[in-house]
Amino acid sequence: MLSENMLAAISDQVTKEFYSGYLYLQMAAWFENQTLPGFANWMKIQAQEEISHGMIFFNYVAERGGMVELGDMEGPPADYASPLDLFEKVLAHEEVVTSRINHLMDMAIAEKDYATKARLDWFITEQVEEEANASELVGKLKLIGNGSNGLFMLDKELAARVFVTPSPLAGGE
Ligand code: FEO
Repeated sequence: MLSENMLAAISDQVTKEFYSGYLYLQMAAWFENQTLPGFANWMKIQAQEEISHGMIFFNYVAERGGMVELGDMEGPPADYASPLDLFEKVLAHEEVVTSRINHLMDMAIAEKDYATKARLDWFITEQVEEEANASELVGKLKLIGNGSNGLFMLDKELAARVFVTPSPLAGGE
């Protein structure tokens, strides 16, 4: 059984993961509007990943005999100055998510809740990848600068991204 504190914190994280999906879907709409369908594709898949993250926590709570209570969610920002501005905000957002996951891990360790710690291990690794992906795109967009050719090439590259169900939802770990 999860402690009351842990249940509340994980419930909150479910809401936050869904918010990440909401944010990235808004960003996908921004890219569609900029006629950058590859970037929009990348963002839509990122939004799907975030919903999956929420579902991993959601399922975990049920497995431990608890019930998630979903919280309120504000609308995400819809205006961005440029693709670089947008991806800098993605990176900053992922850094906040990482600190939240680390905080959950601190709680699990303090409570000697080893099952929750084991579940969080996946998220700790996932956040390394999430930050690396955002950071790489920030770097590429800085290199491209105002060059529309580079942006066009990167858009083509991002159009190839496909959704892969995260392993904890695909029956693995
Ligand atoms: Fe759910 Fe982007 O981390």
